[in-house]
Amino acid sequence: MNASLTMGPAWADFKNAVEAAQVHGESLRLIEAAGLQVDLSAQPQSEALDRSGLALLEQQGFAQARGALFDGGLANWTERRAALHTALRAAEPPPAVARAILGERERLRAFVAQADSAQSYRYVLHLGIGGSDWGPRMVIRALRHRGLKREIHFASNVDSHSVADALTHLDPHQTLVIIASKSFTTTEPLANAEVAMNWLRAAGVADPVRQVVAITANTDAALDFGISPQHVFRFWDWVGGRYSLWSAIGLPIALTLGCEAFDALLAGAAAMDQHFAQAAPEHNAPVQMALTGLANRSVRGFDSLAIAPYDSRLEHLVPWAQQLEMESLGKVATADGTPVGVPTGPAVWGMPGTDCQHTFFQWLHQDSLGAPVDFILSARPDHDYAQHHQLLIANCLAQRAALLRGKSYDEALRETLATESDPQRAELLARHKVHPGGRPSTLIVLPCLDPQSLGALLALYEHKVFTQGVLWGINPFDQWGVEFGKSLARNILGELNSPQRDASDQDPSTQHWIARLAGGKPSC
Ligand code: F6P
Repeated sequence: MNASLTMGPAWADFKNAVEAAQVHGESLRLIEAAGLQVDLSAQPQSEALDRSGLALLEQQGFAQARGALFDGGLANWTERRAALHTALRAAEPPPAVARAILGERERLRAFVAQADSAQSYRYVLHLGIGGSDWGPRMVIRALRHRGLKREIHFASNVDSHSVADALTHLDPHQTLVIIASKSFTTTEPLANAEVAMNWLRAAGVADPVRQVVAITANTDAALDFGISPQHVFRFWDWVGGRYSLWSAIGLPIALTLGCEAFDALLAGAAAMDQHFAQAAPEHNAPVQMALTGLANRSVRGFDSLAIAPYDSRLEHLVPWAQQLEMESLGKVATADGTPVGVPTGPAVWGMPGTDCQHTFFQWLHQDSLGAPVDFILSARPDHDYAQHHQLLIANCLAQRAALLRGKSYDEALRETLATESDPQRAELLARHKVHPGGRPSTLIVLPCLDPQSLGALLALYEHKVFTQGVLWGINPFDQWGVEFGKSLARNILGELNSPQRDASDQDPSTQHWIARLAGGKPSC
């Protein structure tokens, strides 16, 4: 069990070192990891900070926790489970799980090979949500420029507009329906599966269930649904949902991008695993990103983290990272139940650049506090417009520099006097043009956006999140906070379906809307 973060001796030194460190960017601080370049030059840095960070890792038992993660120890200690997403992409998984992993990996490849040789399933309808959706959705969006073997549509929301819209693009006689759900009890995919089955029947598909596969850890439920055993692909309780794209949850990736691309994705993540497992802490990219995140969140008081991938193909990286970071780190209870005592997981948000510059960079530059930014950039584009890529790079580097350097009042006044003849007006305008500067950012540079570099990038974030969980002493692999809302929804659904029931114990507003919206009454 980790020591409490703030009760240990290392915390005070770390806190003092962070408060004393400046974000000046005067020295290049670059870490090469699994083909990625991670530039931490625009983050707080000092020798005292380096030393205290190492002491904090020691105090929190990081090395032991990392070893347990890779070896199948109880990394998910509230659910008494391992968290072996690293085993899913290992060339040689740990012996205890090797047979299961390699066997399912082989089943997945055989299914794809058979579908390819028979030229089956021109279309794929993917029904999943959260970790059973964001991973495949994000990877396929990021890499579809490499060509897709099949057209895929994702429907995750229980709002039937989502699945209805997807169905309009599909031919029921050439569509494979994937029901991806670790528990196989989640409302959304099962509700959407009912719509999809009715859609297949209505189109005259003789045996609809033959066009359905399930990807789940609850194989009994999938078989009870009527799916044939050959079409049930499994993963396990020791794989967290938001860490599961490396498992059979990656089937849609293989069906659309091909098994080679999926293998390269796994290889990229495995390369980052090796870096994370072997690099000394001071040269370990996930570890240093984790310490930086701890400094910015728990000491400097930034409430959020902005992620700006300067590549429109990474538009789903932000929601994927939101679930990974916020569902893993939005907690306060430590292993003995006591609260951490400092702010933990930041709110994660963002948008691809350069769109983000025209959306919220005003706030990042001149808000009273702003937020740290992770900039992500590919060195090489996958298009022929070289000048456009230079423009993209120039904008990414410029935004980082502006956040770091800032603009003083004197600089703003000199700039304004060049065009404003009225000195009083110039002085007033200059006040509005001051940029505080010293705003932290990390730059992650990929050689290009290919499966290998994407796999490494995703694993980088997974290991950063894990390390922050260890530092804060919280469990990054459970999600007790998502159950309460689900149980209330079941109660409210019951009241919506039978409004004549006695007055509920809901709050007045909820009662009002149950009465007004029950049975789909037109309420507006
Ligand atoms: O959001 C809660 C959650 O349990 C996530 O952790 C998970 O990825 C998602 O719902 C979907 O769960 P399942 O894969 O079991 O349908």
